[in-house]
Order: sequence, then structure tokens, then C-alpha cells
Amino acid sequence: MESLRQAGLQTVSIVMPPGETSKTLAQAGAIYDRLLDARMDRGSVVIALGGGVISDLAGFVAATYMRGIPWVAVPTTLLSQVDASVGGKTAVDHPLCKNLIGAFHQPSAVLADIETLRTLPDEELRTGLAEVVKHAMIRDANLFAALEAQADRLLARDSKVLEDIVTRNVEIKAEVVMADERESGLRRILNYGHTVGHALESLSLKTAGLSTAAALAHGRAVALGMMAEAQIAQRRGLVGQAIVERQKNLLQRFGLPVRLKAPDVKACLALVRHDKKAEAGRLRFVLPESIGSVRIVDDVTDEEIREALLALASG
Ligand SMILES: NC(=O)c1ccc[n+]([C@@H]2O[C@H](COP(=O)([O-])OP(=O)(O)OC[C@H]3O[C@@H](n4cnc5c(N)ncnc54)[C@H](O)[C@@H]3O)[C@@H](O)[C@H]2O)c1
Ligand SMILES: [Zn+2]
Repeated sequence: MESLRQAGLQTVSIVMPPGETSKTLAQAGAIYDRLLDARMDRGSVVIALGGGVISDLAGFVAATYMRGIPWVAVPTTLLSQVDASVGGKTAVDHPLCKNLIGAFHQPSAVLADIETLRTLPDEELRTGLAEVVKHAMIRDANLFAALEAQADRLLARDSKVLEDIVTRNVEIKAEVVMADERESGLRRILNYGHTVGHALESLSLKTAGLSTAAALAHGRAVALGMMAEAQIAQRRGLVGQAIVERQKNLLQRFGLPVRLKAPDVKACLALVRHDKKAEAGRLRFVLPESIGSVRIVDDVTDEEIREALLALASG
């Protein structure tokens, strides 16, 4: 705010409580009230300073206030730097479904300052690392090798390593989104690990009830989802065991789970089938073919999903 003021710009700060529970239409409504109060108009700019919750919410407000005003993302979590702030998807949650109410609205600029990551709790760093491993698996074998070689320095938050990793991840996400902004084709590969991952995440939220501490964090669910989906690929002969092992080892080094004691296979399968990405009854899966390359298939059977979930318990 200080530097904006020094540049001669008027600023108003609106602070939101942390957590996914802030990503609601009610909070968006409260922000519209404040924007009106401050007489913000089409010449105003929304700056989203925070993690993915803030960029999704502030971006959504910017997309809808006066039919759309510009916004700038200043992501402060690893996940939002490598993923949420790039691509222009903005949204709030509906009680029945996450990210249901939203808009595509690209930020005018994204300013990712890796120094902000110093204060990030370890668990939040891990969540971001799950998406980083995902990007390497779907698109970039060199990035994967770099992650293996630099894991310790990355976990120690070495600035140089963080800068390289964040930069490469933004490039990957931007490249995919630029080729397919509205997710009609290529952008779907970003869902690797998320088909099973989302099901595990919502299942754990249901069983954990209101105690979010007991719920499976998104990054952890995605790590398990990548293991299950790699398992499907391996059983189909798409990918060799050595590659699945490398993925598993890297996830483990980043403190992400690769095993799940007693997955509720039946409930999980039902949730996978209900995934909103299922179009016209056809459920798409992103399966690895090698490190850095994936294939989208739409003929995965319930039996294959069941076996992959069971393999999580024994793996
Ligand atoms: N739009 C997209 O393409 C996209 C992609 C992925 C995820 N998302 C969304 O992003 C959200 C998750 O984002 P997230 O993982 O960044 O979580 P988050 O925004 O909830 O941030 C996690 C926690 O870290 C705190 N925090 C933020 N920056 C910090 C810092 N520098 N130091 C210390 N603490 C800090 C936050 O206050 C919060 O408590 C979800 O709602 C998800 O749906 C959107
Ligand atoms: Zn994700």
C-alpha cells in the first residue's frame, strides 16, 4: 500500500478471514459493498494479495463488479504462484460444489515474489509441491529431474531454487492455458491426479465433518490421486513400474502421502463418477505415459479404479 501511495495511487484495503470458507458469494457481496463505498469504478484495479483463496475470490469480484474491472494477482503461497494465479479461472464456492460460481477473467499482471514464501507453513509448501510434481509429470522431464536433484534445497526454501522452480512452473501452466484457455482439450491435462484426488478430498471432508484439521489437504489428496492414476496407467501397460516408483519417491521426499490405509472404495468410486469433469457420462482420466508426458483416456472402468484405490492401501 505504501508503494502504491508513493506512486500517487489511492488505495483501500479489504481484509478477508483466511480459509476456503471465505470463498463465498456472501464474502463477494461484502467486497462489492466496500468497493461501492470507496467509489471504485471501471478505472479502478483490484489487487489480490494472498493465496489461491484470495486470488479466486478477488478475481471473481473483479470479473463481475461493473461487468468486469482489471485485477492484478500478487500470489503469496507456492500453490497460488505456480497454479492458481495463472490461467484466469476465478470462482467462489457453492454449498453443493467447490468453484461452481465463476468466470474466466485474466489478471492484467501477476507478481510472484518468492520472498513471501519465507513465512509459509510447511504444510502449505507441500500443497504447492504436489502441483509442481504434477506439472513435471505432465509436461517436463527436465523439471522432474531438477526436482529430484534439488529436493533438499527446495525444502530449505533456497531462493535461487525457488525462483527457478516457480518460473518454470508458471511457464508450463501458461503454455497449457494459452493453447486452451477454456478447457476444451489440452488444459485437461492439468487435472492429472485430480480425478481421484478430488474424490478423496471431498470424501475426507465429509467424514471429517467440520473439523478441517482432520481432512485431507488438497495437495495430499492430489499426491494420492497421482499415485492411483499412475497405477491405472501401469496396469494398462502405458507406463513402466520404474516411472511410477520415481513419482512415488519424489512425492515422499516432499513429505506427501503415497499410501492410504483403508480407502472407502465404494464411496470414492461414486464420487469419482460424480466429478463435474465427467461430460455426457464419459469420465476422462489423465494417465502418464512417461515422465513429462500424459495421455487423456475416457474408457477407464470401475474395476480399474477400484483396483487402483486398493493398490493405494498396499503400495
Ligand atoms: N483458479 C485456479 O486456477 C486455481 C488453481 C488451483 C487452486 N485454486 C484455488 O486455490 C485455493 C487454495 O489456495 P492456497 O493453497 O494458496 O490456499 P489459501 O489461499 O487458503 O492459503 C493457505 C493459507 O496460507 C496463508 N498464507 C498465504 N500466504 C502466506 C504467506 N506468505 N505466509 C504465511 N501464510 C500465508 C493463508 O492465509 C491461508 O491460511 C483453493 O480455493 C483452490 O480452489 C484455484
Ligand atoms: Zn490442484
